Amino acid sequence: MIIAPSVLTANLADLATDCREALDAGLDWLHLDVMDGNFVPNLTFGPPVIRRLREALGPDAVFDAHLMVENAEASFQDYINAGCNHISVHVEAVKHLHRLLSAIREAGATVGVVLNPATPVEAALEVLSEVDLVLIMSVNPGFGGQSFIPNVEAKIRRLAQAIADQVAGGGRTVQIQVDGGVKAHNIAMLRDWGVSNCVVGSGLFNDRADVATNLAEIHAALH
Ligand code: DX5
Ligand code: ZN
Repeated sequence: MIIAPSVLTANLADLATDCREALDAGLDWLHLDVMDGNFVPNLTFGPPVIRRLREALGPDAVFDAHLMVENAEASFQDYINAGCNHISVHVEAVKHLHRLLSAIREAGATVGVVLNPATPVEAALEVLSEVDLVLIMSVNPGFGGQSFIPNVEAKIRRLAQAIADQVAGGGRTVQIQVDGGVKAHNIAMLRDWGVSNCVVGSGLFNDRADVATNLAEIHAALH
């Protein structure tokens, strides 16, 4: 199970320090929540901040850009140029999804499609052969610290079956990433549903304990 720290609830005034704390705790897949204040009612950071973060953290960490933005077609290259390895785009925010997924791949990044809680899983099935990852939102996007929406279970299980069928037919495997409200109390359940990558924000970055302590609680829940 990949635990992908979401920096949204980290100290945005000192992002590199919090990211280094996560890297030092052994986490190397950083989930960067890019919000434009249009697709979601919050505004976070973009390529200039990500570029400086890459300079500060070095080449090894995976930068996973979750683009909660309108018109990702016009901006995805800026995130790759800023140092992102992976780009995930919302099916709800893109006019020509199949074309965009191919363009992101051709630009040298791995690619993911994101489904909001109300978006049927079929939207991902139509492009399952074109992606490296499907991100199932288990909260409505825009903020950290929200509660997990349990009725994503059927969607996740259906997706896991479709990926298994694709692999059995000689197709590519696809990671299922879940994002929102993931904590120690529900992460083992997600693994049992077929999830292989969990974004954790406030479960890692909070006032209760440091990242390593919070991570130990999550690892204990998984084993
Ligand atoms: C919400 C973001 C999530 C969020 C996760 O729009 O996409 O990545 O930061 O934070 P928690 O784990 O606190 O729900
Ligand atoms: Zn996210």
